[in-house]
Amino acid sequence: IKHGTIYEAIGGFPTINKLVTHFYKRVGSHPKLIPIFPADLTETARKQRLFLTQFFGGPRWYTEDRGHPMMRRRHMPFEITPERRDAWLECMDAALTEAQIEEPYRTAIFEKLTMTAHHMMNTPDK
Ligand code: HEM
Repeated sequence: IKHGTIYEAIGGFPTINKLVTHFYKRVGSHPKLIPIFPADLTETARKQRLFLTQFFGGPRWYTEDRGHPMMRRRHMPFEITPERRDAWLECMDAALTEAQIEEPYRTAIFEKLTMTAHHMMNTPDK
């Protein structure tokens, strides 16, 4: 792994693992998100662990497993509204706290995910 990455600074895979576990526990019980996610989030969480590892500068496991990320394209089958984007970010904000990710990394991570989440919207609110 590269030195000086967010991935390394926050403690590497064990920390990503904790973050993703807390995140999907919330996603799975969020009324705005339940309708678009599978009931069993095991495989979704597995892919997200690979993705976030790569996204924050760790090993490129997502690309090895799934190919080019193309995140916006992979989200097109789901109606991602501004409300759902906000719900996703709420779950992530809480998970960052639960995983005890400290500043300045917490803010850096949240800002990068916020930009990506905006980019994922593909449907107006109803
Ligand atoms: C997959 C929703 C934002 C990363 C998915 C899936 C849904 C979803 C419904 C499919 C789950 C499955 O079938 O397993 C949303 C919503 C978002 C959002 C509502 C709100 C903006 C993001 C962001 C990222 C992200 C910001 C990354 C920073 C992923 C990844 C997958 C995924 C890595 C798995 C893709 C694959 O199949 O390889 N998302 N997502 N999502 N999402 Fe999101």
